Amino acid sequence: MADELLLSTSTNKDERYQSLIPQIEGLVHGENDLVANLANVAAALKYGMDFFWVGFYLVKEDELVLGPFQGPIACTRIKKGKGVCGTAWDKGETIIVPDVDEFPGHIACSSDSKSEIVLPAFKNNEVMLILDVDSDKLNDFDEVDKVHLTKIMEMIEGSV
Ligand code: SME
Repeated sequence: MADELLLSTSTNKDERYQSLIPQIEGLVHGENDLVANLANVAAALKYGMDFFWVGFYLVKEDELVLGPFQGPIACTRIKKGKGVCGTAWDKGETIIVPDVDEFPGHIACSSDSKSEIVLPAFKNNEVMLILDVDSDKLNDFDEVDKVHLTKIMEMIEGSV
């Protein structure tokens, strides 16, 4: 793996992801320790995409428990079906929230968070963890994020 992340100077989100994804592939490739991979992916996304908060919640029994993340401190435990993360776990699908104040039951870890995208990763057809990315701007996530972040979740699924 490379020891330094090459940061794209592009202002185009798709181009930034395209520069970052092969580097994330390089970070994850050949490493099967989940926490090590999640930690590097969180850092790569935070610095490569300049996100406000990016992190993982791991399914542990009947709760999501905070895993590796980058950004301000966050809630440590989320019940199934609660908030955006618990809903994405329950439904097993990606959720894009353009305005967190409009999402019933949204869990506000930081009042600066305005929009978010949450994606599940699976093991044996069960959700094993959640990626949560928060922005301090409204309506900051779309299909471009979903497509590229889904690729990253598939790399994580393939690494364990
Ligand atoms: N907003 C999330 C909780 C996690 S924090 O944003 C880091 C939710 O509603 O599930």
